[in-house]
Amino acid sequence: MNIKLSTGQIIPVEMHKVKIVQKTSLPTASQRLKAIDAAGYNTFLLRTRDIFLDMLTDSGTNAMSDNQLASMMVADDAYAGSESFYRLADTVQDILGFQYTMPVHQGRAAEHLLAKAFVKPGDVVLMNYHFTTSKAHVELAGGTVLEIFGPEAMNTESGNPFKGNLDLSRFQAAIDKYGAKKIAYVRMEATTNLIGGQPFSMDNLRQVKELATKHNIPLVFDGSLISENAYFIKQREPAYADKSIGEIFREMMGYVDILYLSGRKSTMVRGGLIAMNQKAYYDQLLPWLPVYEGFSTYGGMSTKEVEAMAVGIREMTDTSVAGATPEFVEYFVALLLERGVPVVTPAGGLGCHVDAKRFLPHIPQSEYPAGALTAAIYIASGVRSMERGTVSTDRDAQGNDVLADLELARLALPRRTYTMSHVEYTADRLAWLYQHRDLVGGLRFVEEPPVLRFFFGKMAPLSDWPSRLAKAFEADFGPQF
Ligand SMILES: Cc1ncc(COP(=O)(O)O)c(C=O)c1O
Repeated sequence: MNIKLSTGQIIPVEMHKVKIVQKTSLPTASQRLKAIDAAGYNTFLLRTRDIFLDMLTDSGTNAMSDNQLASMMVADDAYAGSESFYRLADTVQDILGFQYTMPVHQGRAAEHLLAKAFVKPGDVVLMNYHFTTSKAHVELAGGTVLEIFGPEAMNTESGNPFKGNLDLSRFQAAIDKYGAKKIAYVRMEATTNLIGGQPFSMDNLRQVKELATKHNIPLVFDGSLISENAYFIKQREPAYADKSIGEIFREMMGYVDILYLSGRKSTMVRGGLIAMNQKAYYDQLLPWLPVYEGFSTYGGMSTKEVEAMAVGIREMTDTSVAGATPEFVEYFVALLLERGVPVVTPAGGLGCHVDAKRFLPHIPQSEYPAGALTAAIYIASGVRSMERGTVSTDRDAQGNDVLADLELARLALPRRTYTMSHVEYTADRLAWLYQHRDLVGGLRFVEEPPVLRFFFGKMAPLSDWPSRLAKAFEADFGPQF
């Protein structure tokens, strides 16, 4: 919860106590240099023992509540008919208003089933922005993704509160161009992950639904960060300032044909789900559920996580839970702006997104500036971030790099996991790195998988810049940290 201090400063105060902790350690700069080299300059390939603060992702890395952990003890492990599933389905009905719930093992499993059931070769799927796995599944089913974001979405220095809005005139133009029958569905991602965790407004969702309904196009809602988007609607859309998060959920879901989510984010467990009210959709999806995931009452999830997801869904209606990460991100972004570090504004839902094009203007996109920045951040701090730029975009059919719209180093803040001093430390090291940005150089691929290359691809620096950066760090801070 944001609290105003007597000095006038506003700080995000944690509305929870720490009851269990996990030890972390801070390797020295020379150890960090060795570790990132061994990882092929890909932060996915680092080992946790070499990481001080893990800001790779907020996916499956959040701190669960005591009630979530307690609920796991009463899980019903039945293969079929598990009571844990019925508790989840009742919660989804109660909080989100859907009659049919399908658990799946995580968000991309939901995307796989949706693409399998609804996308035919030659179809188009419209999105406010893509997520890596959501795009991959549409394309594997023979479809094409068309992103129809608004004019502000790619402006990394913006004050627009809803950069995740879908552009309605582009939506209409896509209907005119392809014909509604070719549009498998329109997908709204709650806080567009790859472009800074930016939300859409309720007003935009309502208008998207109106146009979709007029043309009989299903509206699919990626609710992986549903509570953060709802929190932003409460904060940034004046008509919703006095509404509870639960009320905002109910209105949002009233516009949605199919909800799916990665439970690893807002609900703070490891799993996923698909929910809907129309039986016709349910019947199309159900046969594939046991083929790829598991029986309909566990869908590939551990029943313990099914129980904890039900509790997580209820808990995320609490404003202090929904706002926990956005408020920390806002604080983090403000610290970086104060120190002149180029960062995506406004602050988004899941982490702080440093703009690598502005941070490292001397590195062309063909030399992967965001990838280089994640490696440099690690060398300068021991903090692990994630490349969200051209490395995260696969090559086209001719084998050419597809230059990403934005080059970002994302520092995700797992919910309720890190503290103010962690954020202060990270901001300080980023500011130091920004002062020494000229030392950072580009990367090239040395091992490159054909799909989602960012996970396992290995790179090499184009010069000895990593060791020069580590030396400069040691000159300022000594051989230790
Ligand atoms: C918006 C969004 N959708 C889908 C997914 C995929 O979910 P999962 O990682 O659970 O497969 C993610 C994961 O980060 C996501 O951020």
